[in-house]
Parts: sequence; structure tokens; C-alpha cells
Amino acid sequence: MTTRQLLVPALAALLPLLAACDDGAAPTSGGIAPKVMADALHAVMESDRTVYTKMVVNRLMNEDKVIRASEHFADDKALPLPAQMFRFGSEMVAEKTDVFSYQLLSMWPINQQNAPRTEIETAGLKFVAENKGQNYYGAETLGGKKYFTAVYADTAVAPACVGCHNGHPDSPRSDFTLGDVMGGVVVRIPVE
Ligand code: HEC
Repeated sequence: MTTRQLLVPALAALLPLLAACDDGAAPTSGGIAPKVMADALHAVMESDRTVYTKMVVNRLMNEDKVIRASEHFADDKALPLPAQMFRFGSEMVAEKTDVFSYQLLSMWPINQQNAPRTEIETAGLKFVAENKGQNYYGAETLGGKKYFTAVYADTAVAPACVGCHNGHPDSPRSDFTLGDVMGGVVVRIPVE
């Protein structure tokens, strides 16, 4: 039996348990609470994102000046931007599962597609920007479906983040400094 054959039934068995606790905080008997699942998924996303930014983009572009990162990375034979890496991953996940979805958004987006759309997204982005170190959790109903939605701060972890956004012609903000909250990661888990 392959790992996949083992994992799929295991995940299917977890779903009713996830559905049973829509406030996201209640532990389930043996299941994973949506909040625990969202926090764990976000830990992986944030780590991968930081590693790519620091060890690939910032090192090769700003320190060693070997190659740059570009929105038009294919034409420019350059590295994809950290936000593009993140979006490609998120799009691939969306093709594979509907157990959760995630996006990188901001109140000051370079790309208007990355502006908040729902009330919870707007409230969450504002909250994580104003309360450093804290996450935002809420419940929302979209298209008749109930979701547990978590918002996590997306922070300027490297000089490359700040330099590129402050200098980008489409950026509505040019005063970011290292350590600032620049946006947020929204993780959404259906609970019904
Ligand atoms: C070389 C330029 C560059 C670098 C480096 C960079 N970004 Fe961006 N970032 C962009 C561009 C361009 C977009 C819009 C991408 C798209 O089309 O979705 C973007 C998107 C984003 C978004 C989504 C909202 C928006 O502005 O559209 C956030 C949040 C964000 N970046 C934060 C960061 C953080 C934090 C870092 C460092 C970890 C970083 N960026 C590094 C150029 C950059």
C-alpha cells in the first residue's frame, strides 16, 4: 500500500470531525480543530516563503548580485518573485484539494487582485497590521458555505521585500521598513 492510499482514507475520516467544530477553537476527539490545522499549514507556508526570500532571492539578487527577481521572470530569465512562488503553490494546491485554500493579500497591494474582498479579509488584514505577533481568526459564509478563516501577518523579513515594494511604480506605499507587516496570508477551511 502506498502512502497516498493510506493518507486519503485517513483525511476523509478527519473531515466530519473538522465539520463538527466550526468555531475553530474546540478540540475534537482525535480530530484536528480547524485552527490547529490552519496554524500548522501556515507554519509551512511562512517557512518556505522566508527561506525562498532570504536564501534565494535576497542572497542572489541583493548580496551576491548574480541574478535578479522579476515579475516577467520567464522573459527576463530571472527568479520568480516571492509572491509569485507563493501564488503558484496556492494555485497548484487548489487543483488538488478543496479541504483548504490560501492567498497572500494586502491593504497596500501592488497587484489589485491581491486586495481584500470579504469583510473578514479586510478586518483580518487590519488586525494583523495593528497587532504585531497576533493572528486573526473568524467565521464567514460565502456562497452559502461556512468557512473558518485565519489571517496571519506577512512581514518584511529581508531588505529585498522593502526595497522592491517601496520602489515599485504600482505600490500604493513607499515607506515600508524591515520588520513591517506588509500584508497577510489568508487560510480558509470549509467547516460544513
Ligand atoms: C523583486 C520585487 C519583490 C520582492 C523582492 C518582494 N515582492 Fe512582494 N510583490 C511584488 C510584486 C510585483 C507583487 C505583485 C505580484 C502579483 O502579481 O501577484 C508582490 C506581492 C506581494 C504581496 C501581495 C499584495 C501585493 O502587493 O500585490 C505581499 C503581501 C508581498 N508582496 C509582500 C512581500 C514580502 C513580505 C516580501 C519579502 C518576503 C516581498 N513581498 C518581496 C514584488 C516584490
